[in-house]
Formats: sequence, structure tokens, C-alpha cells
Amino acid sequence: MYPSVCVYPSALLYSYCSAVILSPTTMPPSPRHLLVAAIIAAFTARPLFAALAMPKKIENVVFSIAMEDEARPFVQSLGLAPQAGFFPKAAPFVAYRGKYKGCTVTVVTSGKDSVYGEKDGTGVDNVGTVPAALAAFLAMEKLGGEGGADLLVNAGTCGGFGKMGAGIGDVYLTTASANHDRRIPLGPAFEAYGTGSVPTTPVPGLLEALSPAAKPGVCTTGNSLDATPTDLEQMAANGAHVKDMEAASVGWACELHGVPHFGVKVVTDIVDGDRPTQEEFLENLGTAASTLQDALPKVIDHVCGKGHDEL
Ligand code: ADE
Repeated sequence: MYPSVCVYPSALLYSYCSAVILSPTTMPPSPRHLLVAAIIAAFTARPLFAALAMPKKIENVVFSIAMEDEARPFVQSLGLAPQAGFFPKAAPFVAYRGKYKGCTVTVVTSGKDSVYGEKDGTGVDNVGTVPAALAAFLAMEKLGGEGGADLLVNAGTCGGFGKMGAGIGDVYLTTASANHDRRIPLGPAFEAYGTGSVPTTPVPGLLEALSPAAKPGVCTTGNSLDATPTDLEQMAANGAHVKDMEAASVGWACELHGVPHFGVKVVTDIVDGDRPTQEEFLENLGTAASTLQDALPKVIDHVCGKGHDEL
């Protein structure tokens, strides 16, 4: 992933070690030995370290999708199979896996609620930050035993900001994620922690591949479908183009695992528009789901087998 940063300091170290081996009795090595070692290193270090520093190709991709209805068309089109026992027994999450063009694709959803409501839960999809982060974290933990996830894509619907150029049905590829409902006025460090802004992995090639449908933008995350005036202030401070209920928390789980990540978000409603969010959301959910279904196979086609610097 970082060849040019690693190769040259490593070559210097390699060169010095060669000199030490060549002149075990003279410490530090004599200038003549250093010269001979540098010549040997010049011919051998570069190919050796270039081979060691070969960027890893993306072969193991996780899609984190909160709602079952959002995930189903993609799961079916790739022919992924449900994986019993993928998550710990108590977890409500669902995993689907399969091979696609030489890549292993894992889709994880947040499952259904079995906790709230009168009896055995409300049965609705688990939405929001906690289930999404936990499902993504456990999935990456599980894949760690198989060489690790190479990339995580958080896909789903979102609200869009008209003032930032978002329209219903637009597909956003995230450039960063941040939180808008974590207010911790205990000084700058806690405030920055609360906002929890994280850049996502750059995907300029994917943006072009999905052009003209896709746009780049910042996604702001909170646990409510609607927004209070205070939320709106923080969303503006975050420079948000779109608003969702998962991206920042999934980004946090990915950062803990060192897994590159980005979001693919389809706009169902306009946050700064004049219609009630829930009404517009429900009206456009079906179309957004089919737009997502159109975009996700293109995403996997684009990322599979590429290096992270080729996205
Ligand atoms: N998903 C779709 N629309 C949303 C909104 N306005 N806020 C959060 N998540 C959403």
C-alpha cells in the first residue's frame, strides 16, 4: 500500500546491515565496506523490497447494509448464500457470502429487532449506529481469521441536502463521515471525539465508472430519521452533502480494524426541503432500493482485483 515510503529507508537499512555482515570485525563498517555494500544493495535491494512492498489486491470485500430489503436484490443477483454461525449466537445480524469474479463477497445486515416492544421484539430492521457498528466489527473480526477484509462498503439510503446539490435518487460515494448528534462540550478533544470525523478511502475511478449518476460527498450520521435545529447546525458544520444513520459508526469499526472503507448512499428525501422526511422517505424507498441495486454490482465489478490506489 505504501511502497515508495517503505522502499528507500528499508534499502538504506539493508545496505548498512550488508556492510556489517561484510565486515564483522570492523565496527562501525569501514568506508570501503560501506561502498561495496552500497553497490551490492543498489543491485539487489530495489527488486527485493519492491516485491515485498507490492500493493495488496482487493479480494475480500464486505458490504454492510442495514436493512434486509436494501440488501436482498444485491444478495440475489450475486447468488450469495446465508451463513449460519457466521456471527455469535446472540447477535441478530445476518451474513451472506459467495464468490464473485475471484473475490469473496460478504454482505452483512443488522437483522431484526428482538429486544424492544411487547413480546420478542418489534421485528423491524435494526437500524442506526449501534447494530451497524457491531455487525461490521464482528464481520471484520471473523474475516481476520481468513486473512482479513480488504475493503468494506457501507451501502444504503440517505437524506440529501438540496443546498449542497443533492436530489432524490442521486448516488453518493462518501469522501468522509462524521456524527451530528454526539454533543460533548467538555473541551476540544471531547468535541472532536463527538464529531468523530473520518475520511473515507478515495474512489475517483469508481466515481467516474458510475458517472454521471454518482457524486462525491460528506455523510453525516445520527440515530434519528428526522433532524432537530441543533442537529442541522452540526450537519452544516460537518459540511454534509447527505445524512444517514450508520456510516460514521461503521467507519469507526473499520478504523479499529485498519480496513479501508467508503459509503454508497442513495438519496430518498431532501433534509432541507419542505416535505416531512418520513413521507418522502417512504415514497422513494422503492426507487432508491432499485438504484442501489443498479449501483452495487458496478461497485463490486470496479473494486474486485484492484489495488487500493486504483479505486
Ligand atoms: N435514510 C434515508 N433518509 C434518511 C434521513 N433523512 N436521515 C437518516 N437516514 C436516512
